[in-house]
Amino acid sequence: MQIAAGIITVSDRVARGEYDDLGGPALREAAEKNGWRILAEAVVPDDLGKIQDALRSFATQGCGLILTTGGTGIAPRDVTPEAIRGVMRVEIPGFGETMRAESLKITPHAILSRSLAAVVDHALVLALPGKPSGAVECLSFVTKAIPHAVKLAMGVPASC
Ligand code: MTE
Repeated sequence: MQIAAGIITVSDRVARGEYDDLGGPALREAAEKNGWRILAEAVVPDDLGKIQDALRSFATQGCGLILTTGGTGIAPRDVTPEAIRGVMRVEIPGFGETMRAESLKITPHAILSRSLAAVVDHALVLALPGKPSGAVECLSFVTKAIPHAVKLAMGVPASC
């Protein structure tokens, strides 16, 4: 089963056109290397409602996997985890634990990321840090678990 993926860049400054989107394209390249098909891409500001609208829209369009980049830290406008938790069915703590544990081997700042995974509608959602290299690194630390998690999130019977 080929995974259909959506990518959401969460950034006020990218949404305003002040910066180029580097995180989205970096995740696209990583996703394509994994053999996933990119179904939808969006840039949204650090706004709880707009993040939730994009998540619901991507899940409705058929994304089995939705990657977000940005807004996982502790700046006043960082609300990506809260947005996801407001629409999720369940959180999957092992993803965030693994991303932080592995990232801490690279940078002490990884402790600041509230990266997480959750199921929204029938999609697996991963909230990754905003720095493009950090987003790609965090994705790589959990990639092996993604196909099985996507199947389970979609409700496809799958043996462990
Ligand atoms: N994780 C990895 N693997 N590599 C990184 O460079 N940057 C950290 C952290 N996680 C980083 C990382 C930093 S500096 C911050 S502030 C937090 O992610 C949150 O980033 P965000 O608010 O852009 O999502």
